[in-house]
Amino acid sequence: MARVYNFSAGPSTLPESILTEVQDELLDYRGAGMSVLEMSHRSAAYTDIIEDAEATLRRLMAIPDNYRVLFLQGGATLQFAGIPMNLMRRGRAGYLVTGLFSRLAKEEAEKYGEIEVLATSEANGHDRIPDLAPVAERCRETELDYVYICQNNTIYGTQFHELPDTGETPLVADVSSCFLMEPIDVSRYGLIYAGAQKNGGVAGVTVIIVRDDLVGDGPAKAYCPSYMSYRRQADARSMMNTPNTFGIYLSGKVFRWAEAEGGLAALEARNRKKAAILYDLLNKSHVFRSHAEPASRSIANVTFRCATTELDEAFIAGARERGIEGVRAHRSTGGMRASIYNAVTLEAVEALAAYMRDFENDHR
Ligand SMILES: Cc1ncc(COP(=O)(O)O)c(C=O)c1O
Repeated sequence: MARVYNFSAGPSTLPESILTEVQDELLDYRGAGMSVLEMSHRSAAYTDIIEDAEATLRRLMAIPDNYRVLFLQGGATLQFAGIPMNLMRRGRAGYLVTGLFSRLAKEEAEKYGEIEVLATSEANGHDRIPDLAPVAERCRETELDYVYICQNNTIYGTQFHELPDTGETPLVADVSSCFLMEPIDVSRYGLIYAGAQKNGGVAGVTVIIVRDDLVGDGPAKAYCPSYMSYRRQADARSMMNTPNTFGIYLSGKVFRWAEAEGGLAALEARNRKKAAILYDLLNKSHVFRSHAEPASRSIANVTFRCATTELDEAFIAGARERGIEGVRAHRSTGGMRASIYNAVTLEAVEALAAYMRDFENDHR
């Protein structure tokens, strides 16, 4: 079996132990005589699976009791609409635009209310997290339903290392690409959500962690699809219709794995070590340039490029020859990106770094 070093931004690599476990359980899930793929979501065995997934995630992230956990479908993208539909009460929200996904979220929200851009890194090619002081000031001056951030910008490789001070205004964060990579204080947010396909399982599950007081009926009640109502979904424990049964089963396994690895503090230590290997190399390089400014660099997605697209292509082709996949950056930016999520091993990062050093020696 030849498994490659997979640096894909999502869907992305899973712990190998999980893949083998799934393989073992595929024909007969723990004596049920059937696969999870074939099992009723209302069965006792499946109820245990979804309840265990939620309980494990609650332990892992120390989620306070006054937050609901939902496992929905439609990707992170559906929540670009779900958030304003559920949270807009006065019809006005603030967005920080720090990359493609926060821009798309803002554009979607504009269908439901008035949106104010509180800060943006657009003029700098999204190479940094902008100054957050104006956000605090604006939250004091005006009543906003929520302030929205994309905490880790998958495409540009930047990350909020501190949160904006939004006072009493609920902070909403898309944590899709930094989910479970380090401990966070859930109580600082009104809502956190993540597409699972990077650090939380497979595509088709979106995890939403939302504070009780925000699980109400917003003015969109009249037209908000029942499926997208946080109230309806929270009441039904994510089972108002057939959920993504296999995806949630996988998320549960990833949460259990994260716990067995020592929890989020242990994962953070390993993630910082992995990121430091690549950033140290980039800091000293004469061939590679890092996209993100040092203070804003992501521990999840490391973005870099060479002086010419020909060299970038040579790097990507050479990587493949060494069993290194997924380093081509998003089509909108060009260059390279190494996504070093929880399941990407130190060994994989060391293999990439060794290749980068060799490439540098050959092309200086
Ligand atoms: C930060 C972030 N938000 C949102 C999305 C969109 O997610 P989905 O494809 O699950 O809709 C992505 C996808 O890569 C992402 O990285």
